[in-house]
Amino acid sequence: MQHSAAWLDMDRVIGEFSDWLSATPFSLVIQTQEWIIPAIQSMHIMAVSVIMGSAIMIDLKLLGVAARGSSISDANRRFLPWIWSAMGLLLLTGALLTAAEPRRELLNDIFRLKMGLILLIVAVTAAFQHTVRRNSAAWDEDPGKKMPARLLAIGSLAVWVAILFCGRWIAYVEHG
Ligand code: HEM
Repeated sequence: MQHSAAWLDMDRVIGEFSDWLSATPFSLVIQTQEWIIPAIQSMHIMAVSVIMGSAIMIDLKLLGVAARGSSISDANRRFLPWIWSAMGLLLLTGALLTAAEPRRELLNDIFRLKMGLILLIVAVTAAFQHTVRRNSAAWDEDPGKKMPARLLAIGSLAVWVAILFCGRWIAYVEHG
């Protein structure tokens, strides 16, 4: 993809950092022990299944098609802790995969898009958690909240799916 001069300059710095990182003993261990990368990838995928499952449960509740007998606050109490712990494991395993092949990830446009979408979904999820905690009666009972809840569910599901696609797509895009 064509980049402007400022981007190229930033890519050069990131490239130099990547070369330094991939020559560190830490990165070299991950690169040379053949079992490490597939083991980390497997943990990454297990965390993906936990995070997607939990997000889908909350979003189906917001859409009004699942857990009709319980409240949005209940769904948040049950599933948000799984989302945050899985995100911690994804960050850790994702950082290890990046440390193993920094150029492949840090200079890859799809990897960058994925990181941007993750920042977006973390901000939206944290804001949602905060507003439901402060205002649980309205979220649980006010019919006026139905439309915003549905839009939030569809929007956040779309972002989660986009992140998942980006994760797999990184391998098929040229990098520096
Ligand atoms: C939180 C920070 C995260 C980081 C730093 C990260 C980083 C990475 C890296 C470096 C890869 C390897 C890509 C490659 O070289 O082919 C990867 C793969 C992947 N990631 Fe993430 N990731 C994160 C979160 C997520 C999330 C939240 C999801 C989905 C909801 C996700 C889904 C995937 C998928 C599906 C793959 C493909 C795995 C494979 O093909 O073996 N990641 N991730």
